[in-house]
Amino acid sequence: MKILLFGKGGQVGWELQRSLQPLGELVALGSRSTTLHADFGRPEALADTVRQVKPDVIVNAAAHTAVDKAESEPALAEALNATGPAVLAREAAALGALLVHYGTDYVFDGSGSAPRDEDAPTAPLSVYGRTKLQGEQAIRASGCPHVILRTSWVYGARGGNFARTMLRLAGEREKLTVIDDQVGAPTGADLLADVTAHAIRACRANPALGGTYHCVAAGETSWHGYASFVIDWARANGLPLKVAPGAIEPVPTTAFPTPARRPLNSRLSTARLQSAFDLVMPPWQQGVERMLTEAFR
Ligand SMILES: NC(=O)c1ccc[n+]([C@@H]2O[C@H](COP(=O)([O-])OP(=O)(O)OC[C@H]3O[C@@H](n4cnc5c(N)ncnc54)[C@H](OP(=O)(O)O)[C@@H]3O)[C@@H](O)[C@H]2O)c1
Repeated sequence: MKILLFGKGGQVGWELQRSLQPLGELVALGSRSTTLHADFGRPEALADTVRQVKPDVIVNAAAHTAVDKAESEPALAEALNATGPAVLAREAAALGALLVHYGTDYVFDGSGSAPRDEDAPTAPLSVYGRTKLQGEQAIRASGCPHVILRTSWVYGARGGNFARTMLRLAGEREKLTVIDDQVGAPTGADLLADVTAHAIRACRANPALGGTYHCVAAGETSWHGYASFVIDWARANGLPLKVAPGAIEPVPTTAFPTPARRPLNSRLSTARLQSAFDLVMPPWQQGVERMLTEAFR
């Protein structure tokens, strides 16, 4: 099996370089790759890359993920999140290749408090959400074999992430304020990459499994709950902290105005994914604790 990966240096792309390796020949590209064109800023040219590599599977982990910045650069967000995936889908359809792509909880408006399934009505609140939805729609309309994994609150062990930021602040300040009215499931890039590898194998054996799936860790929390979990772990493991126990104040989203509106309810039901691929999504705490142990112990 020949796999063409875009976005190799991102949180998910980095983990995909590990999880896809045993499946076959992997051609992994980043935006600055020089041998083959992989810059989604010029999306039409991606077609040449696909035609040269002739992959059996295309995995697209590239995206414009800077949610607030996307509000002021909608054309670039559309090129990366909508036009690029549309070009890949068109080329995948011509080749009969499987296209794996990542979607987001930001395609929803976040109303209510129930977990959404894959068929729930979409209503994005931001440029990021709107352009990501356009990308999904183009893939579904292309007729190519595809798997779209919609996820949320992604963290990787590498580079900056929410947990690292909270631990830095907790080492500098006596009191923290963290949003408590956005609810979701922190999901490890490693988990997404592992599910991707399983899904590719399963879809190659049974193409009828293609479609859109929600893929997040089990359980739910708020950013405040997430921060408290991370700081409790740090305290239990002897990391230096300035913040006092109980000094993490919950605040509403309105306390931190941002250019992009975010959904309050990011709960996604993974029932369809777990049943189709015979997988069990682990509780979010397991992955976060593992990432903390790897990064700080
Ligand atoms: N992060 C989240 O919380 C979250 C939540 C829901 C869904 N998702 C989705 O999950 C997928 C992976 O996200 P992630 O968290 O791994 O994102 P990330 O860490 O921000 O990585 C984004 C990737 O996109 C690439 N990229 C940016 N501009 C590019 C360009 N002009 N041409 C080609 N590649 C470009 C980056 O490559 P370079 O570094 O080489 O520029 C990087 O590899 C995306 O589809 C995202 O929408 C993420």
